[in-house]
Amino acid sequence: MCGIVGYIGTKPVKEILIDGLRELEYRGYDSAGIAVLQNHQFSLFKAVGKLINLEEKAQKFESTGFSVGIGHTRWATHGKPTELNAHPHVGSSSYVVHNGIIENYQELKSKLTAQGSHFISQTDTEVIVHLFEFHLKTASSPFEAFTKTLEELEGAYAILLVTASVNDTIFFAKQGSPMIVGRNQENETLFGSSDAALIGKCHEVIYLEDGHYGIATADKISLYDKNNNQVDLHFTPLSENKLSAQKDGHRFFMEKEIYEQGTVLADTLMGRLRDETVYFEELPPELFDGIHSIKLCACGTSYHAALVATYLLERHAKIQTSVEIASEFRYREPLLSPDTLFVVISQSGETADTLESLKMAKKAGLKTLVICNVDNSSMVRLADASILTRAGIEKGVASTKAFATQVSVLWMLSLHLASERKTLQENEIARQIKLLRTLPSVVVVDNSIHEQLRRLSKRYLHGHGFFFIGRDVFFPLALEGALKLKEISYLHAEGYPSGEMKHGPIALADPELFTIALLPQHKLYDKTKSNVEELSARDSTICSISPLDFDKADDHIRTHFHEDYMLEFFEMMVVLQLLSMEIAVRLGNDVDMPRNLAKSVTVE
Ligand code: F6R
Repeated sequence: MCGIVGYIGTKPVKEILIDGLRELEYRGYDSAGIAVLQNHQFSLFKAVGKLINLEEKAQKFESTGFSVGIGHTRWATHGKPTELNAHPHVGSSSYVVHNGIIENYQELKSKLTAQGSHFISQTDTEVIVHLFEFHLKTASSPFEAFTKTLEELEGAYAILLVTASVNDTIFFAKQGSPMIVGRNQENETLFGSSDAALIGKCHEVIYLEDGHYGIATADKISLYDKNNNQVDLHFTPLSENKLSAQKDGHRFFMEKEIYEQGTVLADTLMGRLRDETVYFEELPPELFDGIHSIKLCACGTSYHAALVATYLLERHAKIQTSVEIASEFRYREPLLSPDTLFVVISQSGETADTLESLKMAKKAGLKTLVICNVDNSSMVRLADASILTRAGIEKGVASTKAFATQVSVLWMLSLHLASERKTLQENEIARQIKLLRTLPSVVVVDNSIHEQLRRLSKRYLHGHGFFFIGRDVFFPLALEGALKLKEISYLHAEGYPSGEMKHGPIALADPELFTIALLPQHKLYDKTKSNVEELSARDSTICSISPLDFDKADDHIRTHFHEDYMLEFFEMMVVLQLLSMEIAVRLGNDVDMPRNLAKSVTVE
């Protein structure tokens, strides 16, 4: 995902900025850029691809003496990964770098264009710098122009802005996206979107809060809160450990990735939700022409996302949908018909079985689509069309945020198709789009639930196994919960449709059998409840997850009330991820690198 750095001081600024960006490389990016302000003159360098390309572009640039600089690594979300779309974005004499989404950028862009601003990129970010320059014409100071700019921005942002008239200053703001300001004994001020960029360069930092904004020079930082009150500067010492900084203060990458699902989902949704329809800029308009059924194919967690999609695609788009495990599909001599759209789902885009299945489908003349997290991966290059999930690099071997983004893309795809095929009423599509917009807040980890899971995990370390059970889309979620637990705790766990228990598995029920029951309020609650009661009557230990009370539970995790089952799905997904992580922690396992597993399975 995108990264930001900023610097005010006398050291060689190019090296400091690129070094900081390199520390943020682990987040993933596809273009990068820096802007340096020295003696009221700007130097700008941008490059597509890795930082080495940026270094080559800026090879001849040297700075001596005082300067101010800002830098950015961009993971394309709004507009393709081109130099024009790379940050910093420029007005006539100001530059900006930005992480997040400016939700009202279209509206601002139209207004500014009408007033004479000339836009050159496809990004939402560019409106910030034009808006700033618009206000600069009438404001009493650049800082006033900056605050007026912030007042008009809607959405999430971490922003650094520099302008030629104030040669020694960076304006900064944080709302919803992380931003850290640091200083050192050499009178330098630095900024980073993660403290990883500041390690070794600063001894103390301030983690800005939402609504914080301000102005920084070499010897002074003025910080304001959302009510425009000046805030005292409370610096905290900065760790020297780079790896822990990459984890943003979390114990494991898995934990960090669970916690960042809100930000990541905001990126997944960005630019794809209109008021009444879902729009995928990347899909060729003729992709669905002549298509009468969909076949999804994937492995592991991605297969579970595909299973969720079978419910959503048939329910919303009324299109026959089937799902295949890639390693089975390859060898079962499947009958493929050209009116089937073949959709592969893969975080890495490199999984051998999924890739081979995609090749088979192509060879059979099917139209193909990949839903993938890695641009330029083998599957993205091979498929006729691709939708990127925009989860950023996932380091934990146990997939979390990749699954969240896959399911959200598939939900959006079901609505996109529903509006194309006119299978859902417009107001129902609009209602679900509203729900989608709330996803980033639905997956924010509730600290009290996390604390409860931490405590109750100690009761689930032994026994002879776990059943995760649910109905409808909560069945694939149960499969995913069981897979997460298996992978990192090494305990035996199975996912089951709750209605299937009495057809055999219930024979295992006794107090040493743990049942994790998904009891959403808005999807088959009573039916699932009676299945859980049957297990409880046979003395299985029950841990229920539901917004509603359940008196037969030994442990009850109370989720929030939501207006729709899909929102319950996403909140329960977070609970299951945290539960397996806390059990694995108690067992002393390596959460990020579980035994016997690799992140990308490129052999069959
Ligand atoms: C589980 C997990 C795996 C992957 C599977 C497919 O946490 O990560 O089950 O989902 O190996 O990988 P991708 O999605 O890269 O094709």
